[in-house]
Amino acid sequence: MDFYNVYEDEKRADSYAKLEFPGTYYLAFRDLPDIINEHVRGKKAIDFGCGTGRSARFLRKLDFETTGIDIAQDMIRKARETDPEGDYCLVEDGDFSKFEDNTYDLVLSVFTFDNIPTMEKKVKNFKEIARLLKSDGKMVNLVSAPEIYTHEWASFTTKDFPENKCARSGDKVKIIMTDVEDQRPVEDVVWSHEDYEKVYKRTGLEIVKVYKPLAREDEPYEWVNETRIPPWIIYVLKKALSLNYS
Ligand SMILES: C[S@@+](CC[C@H](N)C(=O)[O-])C[C@H]1O[C@@H](n2cnc3c(N)ncnc32)[C@H](O)[C@@H]1O
Repeated sequence: MDFYNVYEDEKRADSYAKLEFPGTYYLAFRDLPDIINEHVRGKKAIDFGCGTGRSARFLRKLDFETTGIDIAQDMIRKARETDPEGDYCLVEDGDFSKFEDNTYDLVLSVFTFDNIPTMEKKVKNFKEIARLLKSDGKMVNLVSAPEIYTHEWASFTTKDFPENKCARSGDKVKIIMTDVEDQRPVEDVVWSHEDYEKVYKRTGLEIVKVYKPLAREDEPYEWVNETRIPPWIIYVLKKALSLNYS
């Protein structure tokens, strides 16, 4: 499949760097502190697909010693500019050779796997993540639910892309972020829960718990579908004991 990373783009990086936690993004991050607190012991973390640093700064506020990694030069440049104290590292796709085995208590990934196109590439990245985790480390993988691409949301519109309704796992889908200046569509890849289960099985990761946060009417946002359809899925994963990661 012909897929390019839309975040490899100066204008998009500048626009993304101004994004904090409005609307549907609030819902993505709202439960993470409690989820992390419940499942993660220790404070050494990687933010996989850190973009312009929002999720890495979020982890640092939770007292994690955090390294943000990303494949997009423009995003890493903005992360460093916004947060000169932070630790940000540009990597090649799937190449984590700079990082040691069995070292991290947490690998957080927020939206990153929406932009990793194929089963093969997903497997390669999850295998590396499993290698980096300590034996009792956890991965928290937040991804878009397939429904996000076929509904309207406080922070996204998809009504111009009716073709999204026919998309199956591995197909490209388009979505527009309404909270940022750059209103060019973002191209993601849709991936079903069943296919995430298959990838985890192939990569030595086991699901500990799955969260599908719903918004509440009393929250100060103009929710559209967020109170009845979960836009995000949060997987907490651990290393499966029986596998060899080499
Ligand atoms: C939607 S942004 C999310 C950024 C950040 N996690 C946040 O919440 O603000 C997705 C990021 O994943 C990065 N990405 C895509 N494929 C990647 C890969 N194979 N390895 C590392 N990062 C990747 C993109 O470059 C982009 O910066």
